[in-house]
Amino acid sequence: MSDRKKVTAPAVLARKGGDKIKMVTAYDAPTARIADRAGADIILVGDSVANVVLGYDDTLQVTIDDMVHHTAAVSRTRPAAMVLGDMPWLSYHGSVEATVRNAGKLIRDGGAEAVKLEGGAKRVPMIEALVAAEIPVMGHIGLTPQSVHAMGGYRVQGKHADVAQHLVADAKALAAAGVFAIVLEGVPDLLAEIVSFAVDVPTIGIGAGPRCDGQVLVFHDVLGLGEGRLPKFVRQYAGLADDAVAALEQFFSDVEAGTFPADAETYHMPEETARSLMAPPAEEWADDLRADEAMEH
Ligand code: KIV
Repeated sequence: MSDRKKVTAPAVLARKGGDKIKMVTAYDAPTARIADRAGADIILVGDSVANVVLGYDDTLQVTIDDMVHHTAAVSRTRPAAMVLGDMPWLSYHGSVEATVRNAGKLIRDGGAEAVKLEGGAKRVPMIEALVAAEIPVMGHIGLTPQSVHAMGGYRVQGKHADVAQHLVADAKALAAAGVFAIVLEGVPDLLAEIVSFAVDVPTIGIGAGPRCDGQVLVFHDVLGLGEGRLPKFVRQYAGLADDAVAALEQFFSDVEAGTFPADAETYHMPEETARSLMAPPAEEWADDLRADEAMEH
């Protein structure tokens, strides 16, 4: 358990217009510990676990049970950062009752302290029900990856006035429904600025320019652990995949050369035990001696 103060939904809400909110994804215990040690305010167990960790092509493939599994691994590390569980596709698109039940799984079984869901004004009934059930909710609008087929691909949203106005209205509807923050993904910087000005809850940007109240990136993108081309909005701060390959290559070459393990990496037994194991048993000596004597006569 970190000695930092626990980050809560009211604390995030209170950061509107203040210190920037730092959010990063994590999907398991080691990545959560690293994110928390680095000072994340919020650890998002994103449905991006689908592409980033589980090898799927999009986020539509993960279920609520997958999300509970990964969220639980993160929350067991007891970070000071808020643990935010992402609601996967179809876990909040049917009834309000099913939405609350699924969010409840992320909270009760996964240990999440808040949930995030994608979509604008049409999600208001679900958000109101979650808030009424005492579950803090983060909204997510703009480029919403769960809508990849409906959007016709992963495209920046709000470049045209009508869509931009819709997104402002969506953000206002989410704020009125009681979300404690809103992710703005893949929108022009000016639109993010307008939305941030229009709502009294913090906005957290990803591909939304610098004027949001906070920023979020995917853990594996920041650290260079991913594969393939990175989106324009990612800044990669390390090349851990290359470092890891180099380290493993060195390990394998030490194995080949017989220089691993060295003496310091090897267990030894007490000398006395070693001597008793190496010395031939007394009976064997006696037998040998008798055989020698018989030969001599
Ligand atoms: O799942 C995820 O990683 C996300 C972020 C991109 C905000 O939702």
